[in-house]
Amino acid sequence: MKEYPTPYQVMENLAEYIDRAYRDKVEKHEGVIQFHLTHNREKLDCYLEFTAEGATLFKGVAEDPTVTLKSTLYHWLDLAAGRLNPLVGMVTGKLRFSGDTSFFSKVMSEDMFGTDISEYDDPVTGFEKRPHKHWKIPENVLVINASPRARQGYTEFYLEPFLKGLGRTGAAIETVYLAEQRINRCRGCWFCWLSGTGNCVFKDKDDFEDICQLYENADLIVFAFPLYIDGIPSLLKDFLERTVCHYHPYMIQGPCRTRHPRRKKKKQAVVVFSVSGFPEPDNFTAVRGHFRQITHNSHQPIVAEIYRPAGMYLYNNPLLYRELNEVMDALEMAGEEVGRYGKLSRKTLKIIQEIDSVSNFRRLSNLFWKEKIRKDERTY
Ligand SMILES: Cc1cc2nc3c(=O)[nH]c(=O)nc-3n(C[C@H](O)[C@H](O)[C@H](O)COP(=O)(O)O)c2cc1C
Repeated sequence: MKEYPTPYQVMENLAEYIDRAYRDKVEKHEGVIQFHLTHNREKLDCYLEFTAEGATLFKGVAEDPTVTLKSTLYHWLDLAAGRLNPLVGMVTGKLRFSGDTSFFSKVMSEDMFGTDISEYDDPVTGFEKRPHKHWKIPENVLVINASPRARQGYTEFYLEPFLKGLGRTGAAIETVYLAEQRINRCRGCWFCWLSGTGNCVFKDKDDFEDICQLYENADLIVFAFPLYIDGIPSLLKDFLERTVCHYHPYMIQGPCRTRHPRRKKKKQAVVVFSVSGFPEPDNFTAVRGHFRQITHNSHQPIVAEIYRPAGMYLYNNPLLYRELNEVMDALEMAGEEVGRYGKLSRKTLKIIQEIDSVSNFRRLSNLFWKEKIRKDERTY
């Protein structure tokens, strides 16, 4: 279990940052800052000694400090973080200084707790904002099929016409079936970040790196999966978690929120493709939101979201054969539209997502399951 940090450990931690920033300063000022801090009615006396070499923290009371600060630990932290203006702190009595207060500003600076990460900058591109405006027919498409039923699944069944249409644009399409790959689950050890290399502890120990070769080479990535417990199946989650090694640990501003800069910058777009058991389109609400977050953080714009509700029942219901064919034709059209223009027309999407009647679906799917059980069947 993680140790709860004591106030002195907090000071030690802080002193490390102060020392690092002070060492970078061209001009050194020798002297001592004495702290008389209180926290939860306990006293903490310690001092920071600044020499030509650096800043060091000691417990106790210095003999002849240059400046002394009396305050609560929290008020001192507020001052250090720039949340408390020193003058306001003094006027309100939160900070009580004695001695040479100018020494404080000589050895401490506002940017003490920051660092320059400009070499890792990865700004939002025009392609990310409006991919279809900068669209080129993708040369390489990678399909990540995350159905545990892989080639036997409905995900695969509905993908087939979509990929046929996409292939018509000349794109080379490769499919990876995650169910057929060995992908260890991310351990959260941050070796990939701490080592500075982006290499995972599982490098060469499973199939992830091989998939990454294809992943890095792709201009368009199709994430295809069945809806599982209102979200993405764990196969896909496991895969996506491993992709944290593709980013630097640093944090930058993205189009909507904070995100990490990429280690390798490539123009890549994403298609989200999912099938569900339930018939209402809003069963995909969580996945839609999740993928918007995922792709925001992966710097990959979504060019099409194809969510086919009740995929299984549309396939199995003889009364809906016409509708099935219409959906399959629309999927083929969708593949071509996405490949050629980097977007999907509303008309095509509407046909793909069409549901005849929710109550009909329920009735027929209930019959489907009852019959399967009655006939003691094991496949679907
Ligand atoms: C464990 C599990 C969880 C599921 N959860 C949902 C769900 O939350 N909502 C839904 O509409 N369908 C759900 N389904 C149904 C699948 O999305 C549906 O059967 C899909 O067509 C399966 O595709 P596949 O054959 O490619 O695996 C679930 C299926 C399984 C096996």
